[in-house]
Amino acid sequence: MKNYTHLLQLFLQHLENYNSGLKTKLPKELYEPEIYILNLGGKRLRPLLALIAVDLFDKAPESALDSALSVELFHNFSLIHDDILDAAPLRRNQPTVHIKWNTNIGILSGDVMLAKAFQVLQNYDAVEYASLSKLFSKTAIEVCEGQQEDMNFETRNSVSVEEYIEMITKKTAVLLGCSLQMGAINAGASNKEQELLYEFGKHIGIAFQLLDDMLDAFATDAEKFGKQVGGDIIANKKTFLLLKALELGNEIQQAEIKKLFTENNTSKKVSEMLKLYTTLNVKQLCEEEANKHTSIAILALEKLQVNETKKANLKKFAFELLGRDT
Ligand code: IPE
Ligand code: IPE
Ligand code: MG
Ligand code: MG
Ligand code: MG
Repeated sequence: MKNYTHLLQLFLQHLENYNSGLKTKLPKELYEPEIYILNLGGKRLRPLLALIAVDLFDKAPESALDSALSVELFHNFSLIHDDILDAAPLRRNQPTVHIKWNTNIGILSGDVMLAKAFQVLQNYDAVEYASLSKLFSKTAIEVCEGQQEDMNFETRNSVSVEEYIEMITKKTAVLLGCSLQMGAINAGASNKEQELLYEFGKHIGIAFQLLDDMLDAFATDAEKFGKQVGGDIIANKKTFLLLKALELGNEIQQAEIKKLFTENNTSKKVSEMLKLYTTLNVKQLCEEEANKHTSIAILALEKLQVNETKKANLKKFAFELLGRDT
């Protein structure tokens, strides 16, 4: 992360300029939640990926600032709506938009952010805009598809690991791939280079969501996690942990898991499910699956012919993000 401090600062300044234009906009009910969520921070992972990509090709990172803003606006829109879908009380350690205001405000402030995510891309010339918006609209549609699958799976008792991976690829991973590819487009990179970076981002994204699911169950530092620990268990999310527990559990354990789906006492539900996860050692399996995708991502990155130091920095960044040393 240290290697990218200057890129992060560049983005934060751009976001600040954007934000300052929102403060006087009316109706305030529409724009206050946008200012609120954008100021709650977060890792700024997606905008950083766009800037890192353009820098990889030795082009000025400034050229990707509106791509970076676009993906961060989209990400934050998706979080406001995701928190409604998931009935989540906490985001980045603060009340979610629909809790602080209400669901209608969450829907509309999210909608306007989605529209603006596309609007900022109009700052690029026609040729660049065409490539960016083609990629971005395809990605946005996939995110919606993934989110609907995630909701559908809540009420399904059986989901395969393949279906789960497909679902998280769409809801989470493609946006990381898209962020990198947008930066590559801004840098004027070739189609092959764009594809390799997209592939890298997609597999980092799959690993990222596997670990997010793992932390949702096992985070020990709730404040650092910033979200309700156990939320996925409460909502019957078909995470990798749950799918593996259902697969590896004996008949009695499988029956216990299915019974917990209808348990109304949420603290009992979470603690009993965690006990089963621990007995069945599914946390380790989830980490192994994440590592598998990190390795696939690195293979794609290795194929890219760019400055070796910059490549090594990106690899290090990915490992740090995914909590690995090497
Ligand atoms: C949260 O994304 C949604 C997931 C895809 C897990 P981040 O973990 O990148 O959220 P912030 O922006 O850093 O808060
Ligand atoms: C989020 O998945 C994916 C999107 C926001 C599109 P989660 O529902 O796991 O994300 P968190 O845990 O609420 O951040
Ligand atoms: Mg959620
Ligand atoms: Mg969700
Ligand atoms: Mg989550």
